[in-house]
Amino acid sequence: MTNIAVFASGNGSNAVNLVKAFNAGNRIRVALCLTDRENAPVMEKMRELGIDTLYFPRSVWKEDPKAILDELHARDVKVIALAGFLCFLSEDIVNAYEGRILNIHPSLLPAYGGRGMHGANVHKAVIEAGDTKSGATVHVVTNEIDAGPIVVQKEVDVLPDDTPESLEAKVHEVEYSIFPEAVMKTVASLTPPAMPKSVDDAWAEVLGVPNNVPPQPAAQPAPQPATYSAQPAAQPTMNIAQHITQDAMPPTYLVWSVVMTILCCTVPGIVAIIYSASVSSKFYQGDMEGARRASRNAEIWIIISFVLGVITNTLYIPLSIAGLF
Ligand code: GRF
Repeated sequence: MTNIAVFASGNGSNAVNLVKAFNAGNRIRVALCLTDRENAPVMEKMRELGIDTLYFPRSVWKEDPKAILDELHARDVKVIALAGFLCFLSEDIVNAYEGRILNIHPSLLPAYGGRGMHGANVHKAVIEAGDTKSGATVHVVTNEIDAGPIVVQKEVDVLPDDTPESLEAKVHEVEYSIFPEAVMKTVASLTPPAMPKSVDDAWAEVLGVPNNVPPQPAAQPAPQPATYSAQPAAQPTMNIAQHITQDAMPPTYLVWSVVMTILCCTVPGIVAIIYSASVSSKFYQGDMEGARRASRNAEIWIIISFVLGVITNTLYIPLSIAGLF
């Protein structure tokens, strides 16, 4: 179970939506809701849903971020979702949760982002500009307002008879789908899926010896620079599998290993099969070097199997003719 916290200052429809999206399941849980506005409607809604709420005045947000971080750490919060949070977030909090704070913004960032661009101001500006598209964006929070890498973005049409209110309602609808999606992506990037144990690891365990392949570091979101310039709308979204698929998988030689085991020498053939099988598991763990090594070893054991097979058969035939077998 991964705990997340929601920071909100307003109505809290996104905060409520996150609780409904996650808290009935067993993977992600909204554990806490923090606010900078004592009587923000979101607080009552969250309490009704059984979520712990905490209010910190703006002076604490500004001057004592450690008090806030202590609360987050005490509840083992891994990801923070800003859902209509209108208070400036101190650098200490941004840095402590680098790459793990998401903000939802009611426009197609980088358009209509930055200071003063929130809520109704955004929708008014979009309509006054005569834009035919608007939308919502979830991005990673950095120390520059609304400028961190985009995680998910979705468009809505702006129709000629749209008002700021009708546009806001449409944008809210897409927010309810993209915010949970972005949270899930971020949580998934913190905990890579458990991979099947590699053959080398299994053998090392059986033999009671350490496998010399160093453990892979947990996939983390790429560290974000302290400041981040405005990004074009079509940024790539975070994808933890990307690094795996950038290089082609080395050859496994599995077919040759099996052929050598059947036709030539069995024992080295089996060793070749073990190495062949570990090529793909290492590759999908992101251990490119290990995959290449396993591929080379498979090749070597195929050759050994072939050579031993030829030698054995060469000796066996004359000896069997001579009646010794
Ligand atoms: C949303 O439109 C969000 O994009 C912006 O603030 C609004 C919050 O709405 N950051 P709600 O309080 O979740 O209803």
